Amino acid sequence: MKNFYITTPIYYVNSRPHIGHAYTTLSADVISRWRNISGDDVFFLTGTDEHGAKIAEAAKKSNKDPKDFTDEVSLEFVETWKNLGIEYSDFIRTTESRHEKGVESFMELLKNTGALYEGEYSGLYCTGCEKFMTEKDLVDNKCPDHNREPEKVVENNWFFKLSDYLKKIEILIKEDKIKICPDFAKKETLGLLKQNLEDFSVSRENVSWGIKLPWDQNQTVYVWVDALLNYITARGFPSISKDSWPADLQIIGKDILKFHAIYWPAMLLAAGLQTPREIFVHGYFTIDGKKMSKTIGNVIDPNDLVKEYGRDGARYLLLSQFPFGQDGDVKAEKFIDQYNSDLANGLGNLVSRVTSIVSSNNDLIFLDDLSESFCKDIRQSWERYESFFGSYAIEEAIKEIRALIKKSDEEVESFQIWDLVKKDKKRSSFVIHALLERIRVIAWMISPFMPETSEKIFLSLGIKNKSDITIKEAKELTWLPKSNEIKKCELLFPRK
Ligand code: MSP
Repeated sequence: MKNFYITTPIYYVNSRPHIGHAYTTLSADVISRWRNISGDDVFFLTGTDEHGAKIAEAAKKSNKDPKDFTDEVSLEFVETWKNLGIEYSDFIRTTESRHEKGVESFMELLKNTGALYEGEYSGLYCTGCEKFMTEKDLVDNKCPDHNREPEKVVENNWFFKLSDYLKKIEILIKEDKIKICPDFAKKETLGLLKQNLEDFSVSRENVSWGIKLPWDQNQTVYVWVDALLNYITARGFPSISKDSWPADLQIIGKDILKFHAIYWPAMLLAAGLQTPREIFVHGYFTIDGKKMSKTIGNVIDPNDLVKEYGRDGARYLLLSQFPFGQDGDVKAEKFIDQYNSDLANGLGNLVSRVTSIVSSNNDLIFLDDLSESFCKDIRQSWERYESFFGSYAIEEAIKEIRALIKKSDEEVESFQIWDLVKKDKKRSSFVIHALLERIRVIAWMISPFMPETSEKIFLSLGIKNKSDITIKEAKELTWLPKSNEIKKCELLFPRK
């Protein structure tokens, strides 16, 4: 069994989770479930980023003590992930003492290796981004993401000697030792590396809500350095084994590429630790053509989607909007049409029709004689599905499932199976066997996306040992349905 360590960014707790956060976590959950059924031993980490001026400001605005405030909002993330059926292995909070201790050890290590020096930072800082900025990052003197003027700060900081690691990082990325996907993100990173990036501050002087530097109690660890370290403190840093690090796949949104593809590997190299194997960068989505924002009032709460479309419905809708890795637009009013066409009238209706015919005709005799061309089609479908997952083309894997559903619907119609079953038992057994086999394959293929629906279908097919087998075993077409064990499947997706 191969270990597979996958991470999401840890989310700021200045406000409640929205579908942007849900999109990242969900994609990581789907990939993690996929690796799991493929036979890997998966460790899936997510969590919340709770220190720094931005969070302290949000707590103050709510008239709450930062610790109470972060406890509340972090819990909202935990509850939202539960609602969405996210099955992580660990949820780390940067205010936990296991993390704080790990950060202190890491900072000591950096200092002892000579990677840090003391200096003065004089420049701009956007608390919304928690980023040091330069004039060229601004539009009309404002941070374009937060529409506010950054603060001018002059403070004593500890700096990290980034310049010592840039050449090495460039080589690692060019040789795909740190594989950055999709290609646009790799190119963007290599472009950034050509810009002679400056050394960055690892501590702040006037931010009290944070982890104090062990050797300088006037400074707290810069919130981005604090946050990036979650990926190793969750695995027990400073005592870390080769089974728990490096991460195999770090999923991030494109907004935080520089931190993950440059600063993070540099910090790891300085500490003598391995760099992550792969960073997958997904795009950003807009809602009805507009950036999602509280001011515009178009923020979608993933919990509302779950209330409306059910857990699996919400999972499906969120992940099938546009290609993973690209930007896209979400049209909220289209969710209902897609739900009805793909899930209620598509998958749900197919499973209901076929299982109900079998359950009311339990004298069907299935023989082990599916045609070679049928088996070949299924094999090819598996190959495509697996290769889509191999390149994290999640939406293409969804399209492959849709194609199987469509093909099955066409057969139900063209063979008129309700009539056929009354007229010709032998022939109808043959046709229905193929339909059931395709539904079994669909149940496997949807399991990373819609785990509950997949279980319900397996149950109605009379398959009980699903969790004991891997997808590799399931791919072998040895399943022989028994008509007396097949029950009409419960309603999967009520029409809206
Ligand atoms: N706390 C930092 C990350 C530290 S990781 C060491 C942070 N947090 S965040 O709450 O702002 O979350 C950012 C992530 O949320 C993005 O990288 C992206 O994965 C996801 N998204 C937020 N809005 C999004 C969209 N509109 N579209 C897609 N993903 C979005 O940055």
